[in-house]
Amino acid sequence: MAEISIKIAGEEVTAKVKNLTLVWTGLTFILFPILGLLGFLMRLVQGNVFPAFPPEWFYSILTLHGVGMVGLWFVEGMTAVIYLLSKYVKPSVGVSWFSFALTLVGVALLIISTIGGRFGAGWYFLYPLPYKSAEIWPNWATDLYLIGLGVLGIAWTVWVIDVL
Ligand code: HEM
Repeated sequence: MAEISIKIAGEEVTAKVKNLTLVWTGLTFILFPILGLLGFLMRLVQGNVFPAFPPEWFYSILTLHGVGMVGLWFVEGMTAVIYLLSKYVKPSVGVSWFSFALTLVGVALLIISTIGGRFGAGWYFLYPLPYKSAEIWPNWATDLYLIGLGVLGIAWTVWVIDVL
C-alpha cells in the first residue's frame, strides 16, 4: 500500500514537472525566434542595410540578445534536466515555479533596462564601467540591469540547490 502511494505521489510530481517543462519549452519556442531576429537585425545593421541605425540601439539590442540567448538556453537546459531527473528524485514543484516567477521579473527588468533605458554595455556590465556611459544611457538603466541579473542569480541558485 505504502509503495503504491509513493508511486502515485511520484507520478503526480512528474506530471506537475511536465507542465512546467511544457511552459518553459513553449516560451523557448517563442523567445528563441525573437532573439534570433534581433541577431539577424544586428547582422543587417553590420551589413549597412540601415545606414542611419543609431549605434546606441545596436549595442542595447546586442546586450539583450546576448544575455537573452544565454539565459534562455540555461533555463531550457535546466528544465529538461529537471524533467529527466524527476523520474528518479523529487524536485520541489513549488521551488521550480518560484524560480519561474522570479525569472520573469528578472527578464522584465532586463528588457526595461535595454529597450526602455538603452543600456548597452553587453558583458562589460561590472561596476564601475556601466555607470560611465557618456550619457548614452541613464544610471537607472544600469541599476535595473544589475538588479535584473541579481534577481536571476537568486532565482537560479535556489532552483539549482533544490535539484542538487
Ligand atoms: C539565431 C541566430 C542568431 C543570430 C542571427 C545571431 C547573431 C548575432 C550577432 C550579429 C551578434 C553580434 C556579433 C558582434 O559582436 O559583432 C551576436 C552576439 C551574440 N550572440 Fe548571437 N546570434 C544568434 C544566436 C545566438 C545563440 C543561440 C546564442 C547563445 C546561446 C547567442 C549568443 C550571443 C552572444 C553571447 C553574443 C555577444 C553579446 C555581447 O557581446 O554582449 N546568439 N549574435
